[in-house]
Amino acid sequence: MKKLVINGGKKLSGEIKISGAKNSVVALIPAAILSDEEVTLYNVPDISDTKALIDIIELLEGKVEYTDETMKIDTRRIKNKVIPENLSQKLRASYYFMGALLSKYKYAEMYFPGGCNIGSRPIDFHINGFKRMGATVEIEGNKYIIKAKKLKGADIYLDFASVGATINLMLAAVKANGTTNIYNAAKEPEIVNIATLLNNMGAKITGAGTSEIKIIGVDKLSSGVVDVIPDRVEAGTYIIMGALLGNDLSINNIIEEHLDALFSKLKEMGVEMYIKSNKVLISKPKELKASNIKTQVFPGFPTDLGQPISVLLTQAKGMSLFEETIYENRYGHIKYLQKMGAEIRLADRVAMIQGPSPLTGCDVEATDLRAGAAMVIAGLLAKGTTKISKIDHILRGYENIVEKLQAVGADITIVDE
Ligand code: EPZ
Repeated sequence: MKKLVINGGKKLSGEIKISGAKNSVVALIPAAILSDEEVTLYNVPDISDTKALIDIIELLEGKVEYTDETMKIDTRRIKNKVIPENLSQKLRASYYFMGALLSKYKYAEMYFPGGCNIGSRPIDFHINGFKRMGATVEIEGNKYIIKAKKLKGADIYLDFASVGATINLMLAAVKANGTTNIYNAAKEPEIVNIATLLNNMGAKITGAGTSEIKIIGVDKLSSGVVDVIPDRVEAGTYIIMGALLGNDLSINNIIEEHLDALFSKLKEMGVEMYIKSNKVLISKPKELKASNIKTQVFPGFPTDLGQPISVLLTQAKGMSLFEETIYENRYGHIKYLQKMGAEIRLADRVAMIQGPSPLTGCDVEATDLRAGAAMVIAGLLAKGTTKISKIDHILRGYENIVEKLQAVGADITIVDE
């Protein structure tokens, strides 16, 4: 079994370049099938989620060329097929093929999507939206069968500003008859990135990035090109490492506005940072102040940085309160932080974190992607050796994490035990 082995306590200095965003590319690749020609994506991260989506495109007989972060997807000979369980289960975002196939063929048949075990994660908002557009949705065992004689534009009110539902309904609406309005839409930057590609292919989407998105359906979508935006969650993870162990650590290829919620919390905690164009320079401060953090939808504090920042709070002077509001079960990392010596009490969805507590390395597990990131941060910080198992979770979302960290002085390796 592959494990990450970390000998902690090393200062981190030098430069880390941020890769393309996982939560963007996992929607851009399915969106490409809406083109009747070829789509080019730049800055594509080489992570296992990317590979899983290439497998699905190739199953649908699309042609993929992927070299040096550039992916060309030729959809001219693509066919509609059932997406089998062994592929759909590999990641949550396989569900974006529902919106894309329904839009292109008025028929989508796929097994349930996979994804991190951080809550029940239903897709009722997606399903209700497809139904509002005139589709029927059947569930047969672990499989969805979604079909429509004709997809009609509709007004859709989301009960919650869901990222996945907003994108999936955008994909379904671009080739529908008439106009679709999505109200209480999610505003995350990844949604703007998807709309940019679709509009580049000839779609008519306005309002992406706001809570009201309007889509006027078109008959045909042609070739398209887009840059995948930098991964704000990957960037946030390394920035948090810089606040704990940095000695002039430079995180490059970031978009400042995508990280404002994190930057304001770090400033509140006493962390000095120098942000210049698309870089941030960060060092460990003498002392970290306690802070209260509550995760929210964008532009609030992102849930995906909740687990990583809780490690930082274990080193802050005083009592911090951390509350996860988006998912009901995103505390898998807490028991391992406690095992390493952190003083954390959990009451319902609030973690009360007393600091600073010295951490000591031991055997831990990555229970999901961001819990895994928290374990890497804790291992870099801890005295002694930390061994992290179930690292596939981590490799799903962090491109070349070992190489990037070794390049700035971390003592981290992957071993096969
Ligand atoms: C996306 O998940 C991201 N995943 C998640 O990142 C991220 O945590 C989340 O957005 C919130 O920012 C991808 O982009 C692939 P939601 P998604 O729909 O789309 C509930 C990571 O670590 N809900 O905004 O699945 C849902 O259960 C991952 O990179 C319904 O109840 O998130 C959750 O509690 C983890 N019904 C909340 O809404 C629905 O139909 C937010 O979910 C849809 C969602």
